[in-house]
Amino acid sequence: MLEFRKASLKDIASMQELVKLEVEKGVILPRSNDEVATSIRSYTLAILDGELVGYSALYIYSVELAEIRSLIIKDGLRGKGIGKGLVKELLKEALEFDIKKAFALTYQKAFFESIGFKEISKEELPYQKIWADCIKCKHFPVCNEIAMIYTF
Ligand SMILES: CC(C)(COP(=O)(O)OP(=O)(O)OC[C@H]1O[C@@H](n2cnc3c(N)ncnc32)[C@H](O)[C@@H]1OP(=O)(O)O)[C@@H](O)C(=O)NCCC(=O)NCCS
Repeated sequence: MLEFRKASLKDIASMQELVKLEVEKGVILPRSNDEVATSIRSYTLAILDGELVGYSALYIYSVELAEIRSLIIKDGLRGKGIGKGLVKELLKEALEFDIKKAFALTYQKAFFESIGFKEISKEELPYQKIWADCIKCKHFPVCNEIAMIYTF
């Protein structure tokens, strides 16, 4: 059975294990245990028959805007609708918080389009994103990721 639940601090070790390979490839930004702990309330986990198979975070930037970030589904379980279900779960949470827009910075254009995200120019992203996160990325400043936004 697939379920979604909020993360807690005891999940951090398995979350780090799940994301390790994509961090090494540079697809997902590395975050220390303490950094994950600081924003632990932003994370939602996908649990399949009791096993952690994916997670992502809804990170709030302003009264209007949030980011869907650190999205990962376990290799071998991709392409089965789990990622889409997880993002929809985060969009539901965003709606409960009365967030107006949610963006993602990604290489997965078709995936986000299938959920209703539209491509925007990276210049429209909040400055905090660039200076807090992008600067830590090994692809900065020449980045091929696409900025996408979902408007409620
Ligand atoms: C990107 C990722 C999260 C997608 O999760 P997933 O569970 O495999 O995706 P889903 O099965 O829910 O796919 C949802 C839709 O997107 C499409 N899609 C997913 N990945 C795709 C891809 N690489 N290319 C084209 N379409 C894709 C699916 O065909 C599906 O379309 P449909 O609903 O019309 O049938 C997953 O592949 C992953 O963890 N990748 C590695 C890490 C990564 O890239 N994270 C994103 C960082 S922003």
